Amino acid sequence: MSLQQFIEQLDELAQSARQSFMGAGDSEELESARVEYLGAKNGRLKTVQKQLGSIERDDKPLAGKKLNEVKQEIQSSFDEASERLVSGPARTERDLRIDATLPGPSQNIGRLHPITQTIDELRDIMGRLGFSPAEGPEIEDDWHNFKALNIPDIHPARDPLDNFYLATAKNTAPALGDNPLLMRTQTSTVQIRVMEKRQPPIRIISLGRVYRPDTADATHFPMFHQMEGLMVDRGVNLSDLKTVIKLFATSYLGDEVPVRVRPSFFPFTEPSVEADYYWNGKWVEFGGAGVVDPNVLAAVGYDPDEVSGFAFGLGVERLCMIRYQITDIRYLYTNDVRFLRQF
Ligand code: DAH
Repeated sequence: MSLQQFIEQLDELAQSARQSFMGAGDSEELESARVEYLGAKNGRLKTVQKQLGSIERDDKPLAGKKLNEVKQEIQSSFDEASERLVSGPARTERDLRIDATLPGPSQNIGRLHPITQTIDELRDIMGRLGFSPAEGPEIEDDWHNFKALNIPDIHPARDPLDNFYLATAKNTAPALGDNPLLMRTQTSTVQIRVMEKRQPPIRIISLGRVYRPDTADATHFPMFHQMEGLMVDRGVNLSDLKTVIKLFATSYLGDEVPVRVRPSFFPFTEPSVEADYYWNGKWVEFGGAGVVDPNVLAAVGYDPDEVSGFAFGLGVERLCMIRYQITDIRYLYTNDVRFLRQF
């Protein structure tokens, strides 16, 4: 892990610990938040601390210093939160006249959308496998959506009927070779964005929206979400990919889940596979994956003789729908509270 990633993880941890501590409504909640973050055995801080071992030697002193700072920061967030619980907010005249034990009117509070819940869960699972979240824009250019991913100019995936191209200033269809803009059709774009900026080792996931001009039906929608994964390092291969997919499926579905891969084709991977997992008595398609094509590594300036990687991409809606037995993707996007309330 790079120093920068380590620091990023720590900063995120400090922030989310503070939110959890401050959000705790009573001392029981605060205590369970404390165990979650500061627990001596499996606390999240401990988990990050374990990664100190994989930091380069020269970076270790800085990493250790940062670790200590964040430890103190989290501890003082905790102290502050527990202080607040004990003393409570100042009481006013009005509070004294209110009988807080009376049941109030029922509260109609909102909840997270099932896709948001799914995304949060996927990010957690992949986080535990050491993959940190990365983001890219939803309006992309030809380079990141196609060219750098080894999709040649004449490839049918670029067909204007299969893409939401954005009109140019002159409102004419953009000419090929112009690096036209479009709504990204896949989160594979983020692979390129990350590799252009960083050197291996890389272990990221990206969760976000993609757009395709499909007519909405039970299994299609013109906007949906994908989770992209990318790992690049020395000697990464297909069996690493299988291991990660298997751990992921087992973690998400909560049981020993058999996984298989079938040969397939994607321009950006070689070999390419389609991965399936076995669930409720049948094989379910998981998504596309493969070993990153050397042309892709070369496009971002990596040396394909030095490093290799695997990548995968899967549909978030599909995972969510299988888990909750949702039969029509349109339910997810029609904002019918009778549906949304069930999550
Ligand atoms: N981008 C592909 C799609 O949208 C899915 C995919 C396949 C992503 C293979 C990958 C991969 O990273 O290696 O259909």
